[in-house]
Amino acid sequence: MTFDDATGQDDERDLALSHWQANGIEGRAVRWDDPAADWSAYDAVVVRSVWDYIDRREEFLTWARGVESVTRLLNPVAVLESNTDKTYLRDLGVPTVPTHWSAHDLPDWPEYVVKPAISAGARDTTRTTDRDKAAELAAALQAAGRQPMVQPYLDMVESEGETSLLYFNRRFSHAVRRHPMLAPGATFDHNARAELRTPAPDQVDLAEKVLAAIPHALLYARIDLVRLSDGTPVVIELELTEPYLFLRYAPDAAANLARALTELV
Ligand SMILES: Nc1ncnc2c1ncn2[C@@H]1O[C@H](COP(=O)(O)OP(=O)(O)O)[C@@H](O)[C@H]1O
Ligand SMILES: [Mg+2]
Repeated sequence: MTFDDATGQDDERDLALSHWQANGIEGRAVRWDDPAADWSAYDAVVVRSVWDYIDRREEFLTWARGVESVTRLLNPVAVLESNTDKTYLRDLGVPTVPTHWSAHDLPDWPEYVVKPAISAGARDTTRTTDRDKAAELAAALQAAGRQPMVQPYLDMVESEGETSLLYFNRRFSHAVRRHPMLAPGATFDHNARAELRTPAPDQVDLAEKVLAAIPHALLYARIDLVRLSDGTPVVIELELTEPYLFLRYAPDAAANLARALTELV
């Protein structure tokens, strides 16, 4: 199981490892960029809290290719490659949050969210009602060589809330209601705060459509859903790289993950 040293403690690690142990899997946390690590010594390498890859995506993917050449990598590098850049949203083949991919000719929306295609934890993500300001922010990302994404702000994230569905080896494990990250007072910590929730049938249908379109092994998949103002469920993000898994929020979650791992290795 990999982690990084730069972005702080992964508070799900010990819970996951203890359930692996109970399933006969001897797991260890190893820094993904530890030059001394011998990945070929493991039956599998599970990507976990590598939250510092955002600024080093190429290095991370090169690392992942190297690991996959000597052992089983979960999720596989083909998944990591596509999933670390949100332009994958254009090719999912399911409804996603309406997104304008340039700094020019912004649609008329009451409120905007501007974010880079390569990000996590709402980094460099801004909310504004000012169309010119949104265009400026998108242009600044573009000038820095980053792909901007401009979206309407969906205020249902503050009422019904974003729903994250967790699947381990494609089997539904649990779902949570997320806290809004762009509401006043939100902190990075809100990224890992949630309440257990039963997903609606239309959300389960959409999540399963997304999974069916991915022809690779998936130890873990987190499908983040919101709704448009007419109620249509849409994907805001598909987390297949280093998702926080909300393992402490459901009694069976950590056991479900361990079982999925035994099935795949
Ligand atoms: N269009 C949007 N409308 C409302 N909230 C948004 C929107 N885009 C992002 N957010 C908020 O910002 C958070 C992070 O954005 P997201 O697209 O999930 O990227 P990441 O998690 O990779 O930073 C979301 O969980 C949500 O709270
Ligand atoms: Mg997200």
